[in-house]
Amino acid sequence: MRASNAIVAEVLAELRLMVKPGVTTMELEEATNRFCSKKKVRPAFKGYRGYPYALCASVNEQVVHGFPTLRELVQGDIVSIDFGVLHDGYYGDAAVTIPVGTITQEAELLIRTTEESLYIALKKATPQYRLSDLSHAIQSYVESKKFSVVRQFVGHGIGKSLHEEPQIPNFGRPGRGVRLRPGMVLAIEPMVNAGGYEVEILGDGWTAVTKDRRLSAHFEHTVAVTENGCRILSLAA
Ligand code: MF3
Ligand code: CO
Repeated sequence: MRASNAIVAEVLAELRLMVKPGVTTMELEEATNRFCSKKKVRPAFKGYRGYPYALCASVNEQVVHGFPTLRELVQGDIVSIDFGVLHDGYYGDAAVTIPVGTITQEAELLIRTTEESLYIALKKATPQYRLSDLSHAIQSYVESKKFSVVRQFVGHGIGKSLHEEPQIPNFGRPGRGVRLRPGMVLAIEPMVNAGGYEVEILGDGWTAVTKDRRLSAHFEHTVAVTENGCRILSLAA
């Protein structure tokens, strides 16, 4: 799982370098497919429940599961890129939100808060906590910054399948759910909206957008719970 997730992280790092005004998310998709062929790994999302692309590229008010398109990114956009692979029987999964050129202060704060909420949850991904302690930590932090957490999508266990038990909501009361144990591998993925938490799905059947059309950000890491903390697997080698 370390190997699979390292590949995911490498791709996300490459894509971050490509993101700038004038680039299309379809170009990111093409680069990702080339990388997968070269590394002989399978993009995990393509074909998953009929999802048509290797990447999810969700721009601005798009929350998750945005399709790559031929629209050029413009300065001020934010783009959430979610990517997974299957390699040697095991899945990797991670996501980042990347600014396009100079963005508004609100967008900056949204991105920073979402990433920080992930790291706050990771501090609790250790055997002394229960699952919903992570959920609660994310929600409390995000709401302290006057943003909202998406309820309709959750993090998940991951391993020989992309989505395994348990589901990991990004909100909830602390002290519930399974106690974390060494060896559990979790994909933790806060999705944070600048406005209300409500989302809707566009006519393509996939793209989730904020109901109020304000911005949304998404970060995800796959981590392994250890005796005394957790190890982030989705970091470049
Ligand atoms: N990181 C997302 C998830 O864990 C991406 C899934 S996209 C899909 O659900 F296309 F595979 F559904
Ligand atoms: Co995921």
